This record gives sequence, structure tokens and C-alpha cells, in this order.
Amino acid sequence: MSALLSVSDVHIAYGKVEAVRGVSLEVGENEIVTIIGANGAGKTTLLNAVMGILPLKGRTMFAGKDMATLDIEDRVAAGLSLVPEHRELFATMNVEDNLQLGAFRIAKATAARSFERVYSLFPRLQERRKQLAGTLSGGEQQMLAMGRALMGAPKLLMLDEPSLGLAPIIVADIFRTIGELRAAGVSVLLVEQNAQAALQIADRAYVMELGEFVLSGAARDIARNQRVAASYLGFQHEGESAV
Ligand SMILES: Nc1ncnc2c1ncn2[C@@H]1O[C@H](COP(=O)(O)OP(=O)(O)OP(=O)(O)O)[C@@H](O)[C@H]1O
Ligand SMILES: [Mg+2]
Repeated sequence: MSALLSVSDVHIAYGKVEAVRGVSLEVGENEIVTIIGANGAGKTTLLNAVMGILPLKGRTMFAGKDMATLDIEDRVAAGLSLVPEHRELFATMNVEDNLQLGAFRIAKATAARSFERVYSLFPRLQERRKQLAGTLSGGEQQMLAMGRALMGAPKLLMLDEPSLGLAPIIVADIFRTIGELRAAGVSVLLVEQNAQAALQIADRAYVMELGEFVLSGAARDIARNQRVAASYLGFQHEGESAV
């Protein structure tokens, strides 16, 4: 079976500076794949380019289609969705209207089902549906950003640092929901600095450094890798070197 998303030898530059250099990755159906890496590694750049926000060199295939000629709208219609790093909600609009914006291109009946689905994943959003997005807590705002991305019933949800700035108990909540999405048939591409949480939930992982993938494999093996443990999981076994 071919992968849902397949990215081959992708290069992305800001002017003359290459931020992503020759990266290849796959996400299968019903899979959670994580990209971990330090600040500035190129994770956000890669997700933005896959979404069509930034131009890239290389080949990107999604759901059997070459994405080279597809703009952002077409990619959304094909089933690709991104929750950006800074959530980008409309602060002066309420929860329901923010969700409605995620459904603007789908039929009314489908939108009703999407609301139901999102509210059952995030009951907190239903309780607060008339509250202005700008007054929600950080965790609620992340739920709303995810909910909005789910309104169009994507096949693949890309999440850029969903745990950023959130308390551990809320992070656990968000990650539980990511697991539920996989169970519901949505694949997830998860960019995280919280490597511990990401590796626990993911099926496979890629480690990104300075615009390149330096390691990839089953998340469970990556979590056991000495170099990853020392650099990203914040511990080092006695008598072992970090490299
Ligand atoms: N608009 C831009 N113009 C120029 N350079 C940029 C731009 N956006 C990002 N960069 C550079 O590209 C590199 C990768 O940045 P990117 O935001 O993709 O990293 P990241 O892995 O998402 O980091 P973080 O974990 O801090 O979010 C960095 O060196 C960054 O300074
Ligand atoms: Mg980033």
C-alpha cells in the first residue's frame, strides 16, 4: 500500500539560505508520525511547505496526487490540514464562529456532523461555544485550533507544537485526543519539542537537526536511542557519552 503523504528529497529556502535540505518522509494511513528537533531545525518550515504556504523543491505526493500544482485550498480539499504553531485563531470571534470558518467549504449537512464530531472530541469547546476565542485559556485555544482544522474532516492533520506553553495536565489531554484521532482513522504528523510525549504516542519518528533528518525509525526505538535520550529526553545513562 502506498503512503498517504510522501515527501521526497525536499529542499526549502528563505532567499539564499536553505532551511530544509534533502528531507524525505512518509506518513501512512492510521499512523502518527512525529518530527522532533531543537529550535531552528526546520520543522515549521517543512510543515508550512507541505501545506503550500512556502514553496519547495522536491516531490510531494498526498493521497495519490502530486501536490506540485495544488494551492493551499486544493490541498485542504484533498484532505490535508495544518494547525499552525501560533494557533492563529480569530480572537474577537467566538468558538462556534471560529469552527464555522474551518467548515466554509463544506456542505451544511456535513458541517453539522463536523460540529458534532469536534464537540464530542472536545466537550470543553461546546460548553464555551459562545465565548470569544481571545478569552480562552491556552489549552482551550489549542483545542479550538485543532477543532477548526478537523471541521473539514481531513485525512491527515499536521500539528505544529501543540503542547507549546501548556501545563502538563493539558498536554496529556491534547495527546489523548491525538490518539483518539488515529483510532478514528485520521493520520497525524506531529512536530514537537516535547520529545518524550511525542515519542510515547507516535508510531514512527524522525529526528531533525539543522535542516536534515539525522535519524528515523519506530518511535519506541528512537526513544531508546542514546543520542536522542541525551539531546532531547534530558537524561544520560551513567558512563555513556552523549554522542
Ligand atoms: N521567514 C523566514 N525568513 C528567513 N529565515 C527563516 C524564516 N522562518 C524561519 N527561518 C529560519 O529557518 C530555520 C528553520 O526555522 P523553523 O521555524 O522551521 O524551525 P523549527 O524547527 O520550527 O524551530 P522551533 O522549534 O523554534 O519552532 C531557522 O534558522 C530560522 O531562523
Ligand atoms: Mg517551529
